[in-house]
Order: sequence, then structure tokens, then C-alpha cells
Amino acid sequence: MEPKPVYSQETNLVQLGVGLDERTGAISVPIHLSATYRHPGVGESTGYDYTRSGNPTRQVLEEGLAKLEGGNRALAFSSGMAALTTFFLHFSQGDHLVVSEDLYGGTYRVLDQIFANFGLSVTYVDTTDTVAVAKAITDQTKALLVETPGNPLLGIADLAALGQLCRKRNLIFAVDNTFLSPILQRPFDFGADVVIYSATKYLGGHNDLCAGILVAREVDLGERLYFLQNSTGAILPPLDCWLLLRSLKTLTLRIERHGKNAMLVARWLEQHPKVTDIYYPGLEKHPGHELSCRQASGFGGMLSFRVKSDEVARTVLKRLRLISFAESLGGVESLMTLPAVQTHGDIPEAERKRLGICESLLRLSVGTESVEDIIADLEQALE
Ligand SMILES: Cc1ncc(COP(=O)(O)O)c(C=O)c1O
Repeated sequence: MEPKPVYSQETNLVQLGVGLDERTGAISVPIHLSATYRHPGVGESTGYDYTRSGNPTRQVLEEGLAKLEGGNRALAFSSGMAALTTFFLHFSQGDHLVVSEDLYGGTYRVLDQIFANFGLSVTYVDTTDTVAVAKAITDQTKALLVETPGNPLLGIADLAALGQLCRKRNLIFAVDNTFLSPILQRPFDFGADVVIYSATKYLGGHNDLCAGILVAREVDLGERLYFLQNSTGAILPPLDCWLLLRSLKTLTLRIERHGKNAMLVARWLEQHPKVTDIYYPGLEKHPGHELSCRQASGFGGMLSFRVKSDEVARTVLKRLRLISFAESLGGVESLMTLPAVQTHGDIPEAERKRLGICESLLRLSVGTESVEDIIADLEQALE
């Protein structure tokens, strides 16, 4: 038998699911809505019993994502928060986690207001500082969760150094890779054990889908996370699995365009008199620029910037015409967010202020529209 050709990641993404339905030869994966499946006999199964436990459309998506990420097992959830929650369910009362302080507010909320009640404790640290991370580890620490680039300040954590630290201290190393996607950053190459996505963002890419993904590098952790998912039930429904499969086919193209546009927008904002600070790892002056060049193959489509006052920020949001003032990121449509009030509103005010997440900070998810139009909208809004 001839060996199977090995294709590039881009080709595998475009070809996701093609020809898997041998009966019809369908190019687009069929959507299997059946909630349950006939058994041929007692103790026999087609491989599918009940859709919470396994679904053919979800399986194509999960296997495609595991391959894309280079992991052993991927699981698709009904949202990024469902994926994160399932990951946290792995831990027990008395366990301690070290987590990036520059992270999505919803992750902070679920840890602080829900898992704290079950005896899971957390220390938030600046994960761009590996020494600070090492200092925060105690005998009870079981895992490190890092978001890099950070959210919303785009700080860059050293994945290789943190991977080594986790190995030395026997910790699970989890990376929320939502901002860069597997196209630009591959946490398993740096020793991560779990990669987490809000697939609502770049993986979905069209602001029309809420989904989350966990990918485990090793069989055992993958099995354990599957057990937790099947037991608690936050699966991604078949229609949404299909939508996400369709989106993944254009992920490489979209990520390329997001990155090109973001770089041009960042350079434009950098010289604008009303912009006092700009946070984009693609700019040479960004403190994480060199590290970012070493561990990622691009800088992504997310940037944040500070304007002269809260008032200017509010005026900008009011005046936007093309860019939507809306929560979320990673879609083809450009979105601007006020993190202090929206995505990070659940972080206590004093903590937000300490981190620099105040109401003059705007976060921009640069879309794939013509970059001239995006810049023109910013120009008139900042006028
Ligand atoms: C980095 C990051 N992780 C996780 C989440 C949560 O994902 P979801 O909104 O899909 O539940 C978000 C949402 O904004 C996010 O930005």
C-alpha cells in the first residue's frame, strides 16, 4: 500500500471532513442531529450511543483540532467558559492555582466567585515575570494557567521558561491561546499540557458562534477531561460544530489578514497625538516584542491603546461608524471594547486600577475589512 501523503497544516484545515461520508462523498461534513443511536445488540455499539458522550460531527471537529494543535485529544464545548470551567473541575478542594493577572475577566469571575466556594485557591501573578511565577508556587499548587498575549494589556509570557518551571515543579501547564490561535502560537512546543480556546473568537471568526475548546497533549489528561465533559455536559451542539468546522477552513487566511491590518493600525495609532500608549507586541518598543518573535510566528489582530482621558475614550466609542463598540474579539468585523466596563468589569476596581485597566484604555480587535477604512474610522472618531 502506498504511504499516505503528509500535508501542511493549512491544507489539513481546508480539507477538514472532506470525503469522510463515504456513502455520499459529501464535501461538507454532514450534521448529525440524532440525540441517540440504535444498538446492534446488547453490549454492541456503532461507536455512538448518546450525543453528549459522542457525536459524529463533533468527532470530526475534535479530531481535526487535536491534529491541528499537535495534541492527543480535543474536546468541543458550548463556550470558552465551559471549557475553562471543565478544566478547573479537574482540581480538588485545597488545591492552588497560579494564574496570569492580565487575563479575561470571566476567568477571574469563575475562579473568584464560584471555584473559591469549593476550596480552590488562586494566586494571580504577572506571568511575564517568570521569577514572580516561581515565587507564587506553593506545595499545594497543581497548575499554572497563562494567557499570552495577556488580556487586555498584551504582555508576553515566556512559554519555554514557564514550561520548564512547570516540569520541574510537577504542575499542569495550561495556556489560553485564544488571542493568537494555533496558526501563530503552538504551546505544546513549549511544554504545555493543555491548550484552551474561546472558539467564539478567531477559531469561529465571524461573531456568530459561541464555542470553547480544550486540547490535551497526553492521553491520560485527555481521558480525564473527557470524563469531566461527559459527566457535566457542556458539549458543543452538532450545528455549531459544523459552523466551527466551516470557519476553520479559512482560519489561516483570516489570521494572516488580521495580523497585517493590526500592524498597520498599530503604527498609525502610535503616531496619533491623542493616543498616549499603545500595546501591540508587533511594535519594536513593546517590552515583549523580541520574545514574541521567538515563540510565535505573528503578532495577531489584537491591540489596546490609551487615550488622554476617560472622556476621550467615551467620545471615540460614540463616534465609531465602521468599527462596532461591542464585547468580544477575533471576528472578521472590527470591534472595540472598553475593558474596564465590559470584559474586565468583574475584576475589583482597585485591582483593575493597579493593572492599568482604567476607562481611558480601549481594546481593538482589528478585523479583516480594508485597513484604509478601519484607519479612516479611527481618524474621524479621534478627531
Ligand atoms: C482569552 C479568553 N479566554 C476565554 C474567554 C471565554 O470565552 P467565551 O466567551 O467563549 O465563553 C474569553 C472571552 O472573551 C477570552 O477572551
